[in-house]
Amino acid sequence: MPVTSGVNHALRAGKAGADVIASTGMEAGGHVGELATLPLIPQVVDAVKIPVIAGGGIADGRGLAAALALGAGGIQMGTRLACTVECGAHINYKQKIVEANDRATVVMGRAFNDASRGYLNSYAQTLLDMEKTGATREDYIKFNANRSQRGFVEGDTEQGRILFGQIAGLIRDMPTCQEVIERTVTEALEVMARLGGVAASASRS
Ligand SMILES: Cc1cc2nc3c(=O)[nH]c(=O)nc-3n(C[C@H](O)[C@H](O)[C@H](O)COP(=O)(O)O)c2cc1C
Repeated sequence: MPVTSGVNHALRAGKAGADVIASTGMEAGGHVGELATLPLIPQVVDAVKIPVIAGGGIADGRGLAAALALGAGGIQMGTRLACTVECGAHINYKQKIVEANDRATVVMGRAFNDASRGYLNSYAQTLLDMEKTGATREDYIKFNANRSQRGFVEGDTEQGRILFGQIAGLIRDMPTCQEVIERTVTEALEVMARLGGVAASASRS
């Protein structure tokens, strides 16, 4: 399934024969484009004729209901599912998600044509400084070597590459994937029922 971060991207994926696309806002963990989920999804939904899976900043049933309201056919959760029992990343990585607040992440590497969102640690700060001081892409590639291994596998949360999204500030536990899916769907149904009630009473008055 192609992952897209803008309307042009999505149109190209549709023309190339994709049956479904994911569209991910820049709140997301990992590689990002420039649009946030809220403006991105309805524009992509209106532009293409295939189902759109919304990602970026979704970690609970409120996010699922919002994505459906924007016209998405489903959701893609990255940061939420990375902080589960089943995720094979180092426990220190998952612990950083649990401890994160709303401002814990930053987009890094845009100057090197490799923008990604992750935890603002010493590694990320050095990268941001390199962007400001005119480092080359070769410098970046050299600096980045083995940083994912250090972060995700070895659990070095200061010098390793620790990717997660802005929604980490909402995540406070490490459940199983099954628990995440079940409570996300249950909460989305509650939200939609509540909104349905609001709509029904508005149409009666
Ligand atoms: C640690 C991490 C690694 C990721 N790796 C990939 C990847 O290899 N390919 C990809 O298409 N998306 C990747 N993503 C993005 C997710 O598939 C998803 O689009 C994104 O995490 C959704 O936003 P969220 O993190 O706010 O839930 C990654 C995300 C994270 C957090």
